[in-house]
Amino acid sequence: MKQAVEQEVNKIYCENCIDTMARMPSEFIDLTVTSPPYDNLRTYNGYSFDFEKVASELFRVTKRGGVVVWVVADATIDGSETGTSFKQALYFKSIGFNIGDTMIWRKSNPFNWGSNYYYPQCFEYMFVLCKGTPTRFNLMRDRAIINAGKQFYQTRRGTDDRMEYDNKKVTLAEVGKRYNVWDIAVESQPEHPAPFPKQLASDHIISWSNAGDLVYDPFMGSGTTAAMAVRNERNFIGSEISQEYCDIANERVRRECARPRQMNLGYEQESNLARGTTAADGEGRRGMMNE
Ligand SMILES: C[S@@+](CC[C@H](N)C(=O)[O-])C[C@H]1O[C@@H](n2cnc3c(N)ncnc32)[C@H](O)[C@@H]1O
Repeated sequence: MKQAVEQEVNKIYCENCIDTMARMPSEFIDLTVTSPPYDNLRTYNGYSFDFEKVASELFRVTKRGGVVVWVVADATIDGSETGTSFKQALYFKSIGFNIGDTMIWRKSNPFNWGSNYYYPQCFEYMFVLCKGTPTRFNLMRDRAIINAGKQFYQTRRGTDDRMEYDNKKVTLAEVGKRYNVWDIAVESQPEHPAPFPKQLASDHIISWSNAGDLVYDPFMGSGTTAAMAVRNERNFIGSEISQEYCDIANERVRRECARPRQMNLGYEQESNLARGTTAADGEGRRGMMNE
């Protein structure tokens, strides 16, 4: 295990993320939310990264029970999708991460019109990788339940394969856990070619960390993860190799810190449903956060 060194947090380091992580002690980060440059789709001023080194460092610096949200898509090269996203997910698994979930970010306003042969691309993968089982899971509960308020008897399949009915009546809640396909609009930004939508970063931060936790983005770009960590009262740390993007990210964090803090974050710290107690309850609530 690496020696613990002082690593200043709430700071974006303008350098290769490998150098930032090399200074971190092991088991340091609660949550990483990031989108790496993929398949050389954009050159980002010519910077590149060593995927396998980044993956193994992420495994080392993530706390047991911590999560890495890895948002990627594939380029199409010579008539075929590269499959890089799945190769990366499987590599993460081979070094010890669980692929907890393969989530989809469906872009509600995709800019891609596709080719003559295939349907237009409108999503990216969001691999939720966990070092063990998540210790934080404040799952979003904003899915309206059809038949909300109706009562029914819970059923289960008996050993003889017949349906058994519980005596206890259950009332269907107003809202249930969100599904793992998230519809979120792309947010264009003049200063960066591929920023996260704020809601994407914010919802993952709320889902997989608690207030006061440390959130990392090794490919910070325009600073969305850092700004949303501040908004949700988490600490952050970031790496971004381009000085131009670092300046943009720092300015966004400065603006976010200047915003009046929201008293009610609008999420449950712990969700009974997330622990799988019952499928029918649901007092969960959350607030939308707009910049
Ligand atoms: C897909 S963008 C991230 C966008 C970000 N999620 C946002 O909301 O703006 C990837 C970023 O990684 C940066 N980058 C590329 N190689 C890097 C490296 N080795 N270390 C740190 N940053 C790097 C690029 O400059 C680019 O800004």
